[in-house]
Amino acid sequence: MKKIIGLIVLGISTVALAAPKAQWLTVDNNVLSKIRPHLNKSVQTLYSAQGASVVKLSPSEIEQLSGIIHDELHRCGGFITHDSFEEARDALSFQGEMYFAKSAIFTDYSIDQANLVAPMVAQVEEPSIRSMIEKLSNFNTRYYKSETGIKSSEFIRDTWAEMAKHRSDVKVELFQHSGWPQASIIMTIEGSEKSDEVVILGGHADSIAGMFGGGGRAPGADDNASGIATITEVIKILMKNDFKPKRTIQFMGYAAEEVGLLGSKEIANSYKNKAKKVIGVMQLDMTLNKGTEDKDIVMMADYTNGAQNEFIGKLVDEYVKVPWGYSRCGYGCSDHASWTAAGYPSSIPFESTMEDINHKIHTAQDTLQSAGGDAKHAAKFAKLATAFVVELAN
Ligand code: BES
Ligand code: ZN
Repeated sequence: MKKIIGLIVLGISTVALAAPKAQWLTVDNNVLSKIRPHLNKSVQTLYSAQGASVVKLSPSEIEQLSGIIHDELHRCGGFITHDSFEEARDALSFQGEMYFAKSAIFTDYSIDQANLVAPMVAQVEEPSIRSMIEKLSNFNTRYYKSETGIKSSEFIRDTWAEMAKHRSDVKVELFQHSGWPQASIIMTIEGSEKSDEVVILGGHADSIAGMFGGGGRAPGADDNASGIATITEVIKILMKNDFKPKRTIQFMGYAAEEVGLLGSKEIANSYKNKAKKVIGVMQLDMTLNKGTEDKDIVMMADYTNGAQNEFIGKLVDEYVKVPWGYSRCGYGCSDHASWTAAGYPSSIPFESTMEDINHKIHTAQDTLQSAGGDAKHAAKFAKLATAFVVELAN
């Protein structure tokens, strides 16, 4: 029955929404073979490489695809959107670029800031992370096209700006996108010595629920109020300690992740086009739900930078002292993939392995309560992310 509904939905939307700009998707071949039956017959495989293919879909088809993948494959994602066929094709041959990103790192991964980091890590407070998660989940939805989605991004901007109001070397801005109303948020602490080198800590600000995303309640407590609240805690601690980094640090809340990593893709590509020197990116997307018994922090090994992942593992041992390991998304599952695609070293320390994923995400049940009722798990990520930005920026 579900299959039939999916088919009808895709069929109708293709007709009804002929006007909007189509997008090119890179999709894993295994996922593509399973969703093929739902796709309009006219959808052709335009290019294949590295176990994935390029197909062209309308924006509404893309949105529904996410739901179909969820319902049919009982998993998330499986695709990245691109603005042109060339960009999609290049993304598939981008293993080359990925190897470049893995090898051509001149970043110093030594851990030598314990005097600064250890006291800061000790100041991480679970209640303030929890409170921010509650505030963000109280927006009915943070869907990228909704009124509350716009308001929630402004709320994040205001919260971060308030924490930095005493600092003239810190600015907080909205990054407006041309294709949709929700803005991304960027906070910048200007580096005192090497301000052209940038360390980025980001997470997505939007939420989504159900096949049609925008309509209903989407608290997105785990996905991804938790990541934004964790980043907010890091900002709180850096500001409280009046930390002045040598390199520039940027905190980012990305718009429209849930519909194809759209916000981060625009930002990462604009950095690439300006040849900005981004020396490390950490993505925090889902830090609330402790899903895996024997691992507290799980590094996704795909669409990330191997050398930086190892460095982050060492930071866990040094400063967080919890068990950690590796897993794989199997696709570009969050905004870290946008930075990897732009050629920058990027990592995503995650709340669980892929097998133990929180099945409440993308539903009205993604609440603080359903993830255990406290932010203790997220506090470990706040410690790790504090260590990451201070060690890399100094
Ligand atoms: N937080 C999820 C990503 C995720 C889900 C990571 C499960 C690991 C396990 C993210 O917000 C998301 O939903 N991403 C999309 C991908 C995108 C290309 C639309 C997804 O997984 O469907
Ligand atoms: Zn999501």
